Amino acid sequence: MILIFLGPPGSGKGTQAKRLMSHRSWPQLSTGDMLRASISKGSALGMEAKKYMDQGHLVPDLVVVGMIAERIQEPDCRSGFILDGFPRTLPQAKSLDVMLAARNLSVDVVVEFQIKDSELLGRLSGRRTCSKCGTLYHIHTSPPQVSGICDVCGSDVIQRADDQESVIQKRLKVYHELTAPLVRFYSEQGKLRAIDASVSMAAVDVSVHDALGIA
Ligand code: AP5
Repeated sequence: MILIFLGPPGSGKGTQAKRLMSHRSWPQLSTGDMLRASISKGSALGMEAKKYMDQGHLVPDLVVVGMIAERIQEPDCRSGFILDGFPRTLPQAKSLDVMLAARNLSVDVVVEFQIKDSELLGRLSGRRTCSKCGTLYHIHTSPPQVSGICDVCGSDVIQRADDQESVIQKRLKVYHELTAPLVRFYSEQGKLRAIDASVSMAAVDVSVHDALGIA
């Protein structure tokens, strides 16, 4: 099963990809996480990507397409994977189709996370992430048991540099301009399943399973 989770920043793509991954054998391939890992390592690619990410702009297509092309060749992707935050432009979507077709594969389902922009600001400004294992928290709705410390691995829980209000507004604008056209692209392929992402995490989880036709 090759899945795409498509939706604006803060719509819950990462949250639901992690939930699904915990009881299926499909890894979550998050281009955002991959780029942040490159930044943490201080690699040239990471330093270049940081300039775009800190401003709320997209990283150039060539960079992210190259990362995904390499990642899907790893053994854990054999039975499928969840693309979280990729593709984000029409050229990325078309490159994905080409790279999958070369392996006699294609995208199975695209889950579109629908939610109003007005609900996203609170989610993103309150989001905190474990600096080591990536567990997601929210300061109001799902805080760690001890403030600033991850429940899972005990590492520091931090705020992402791009979760500042001015950058969030820019990321939403970029989403509507460059990523939202993918809704039509996948709808025309008959692969789009829209879900209401404004409800509780558990209710979204149910909708994701329904959209995928799995128990
Ligand atoms: P990326 O890391 O992919 O960020 P994003 O798409 O902006 O998405 P987010 O991670 O912000 O949100 P999410 O939908 O995963 O929500 P989450 O589950 O965390 O990308 C960052 C940057 O990297 C981009 O801006 C760009 O520069 C670059 N980049 C990445 N991919 C790229 C690409 N393909 N091309 C070019 N550039 C690329 O949830 C958010 C919060 O809400 C959490 O606190 C969570 O606890 C809470 N929450 C989740 N679900 C619910 C719910 N149902 N109810 C209440 N709260 C909820």
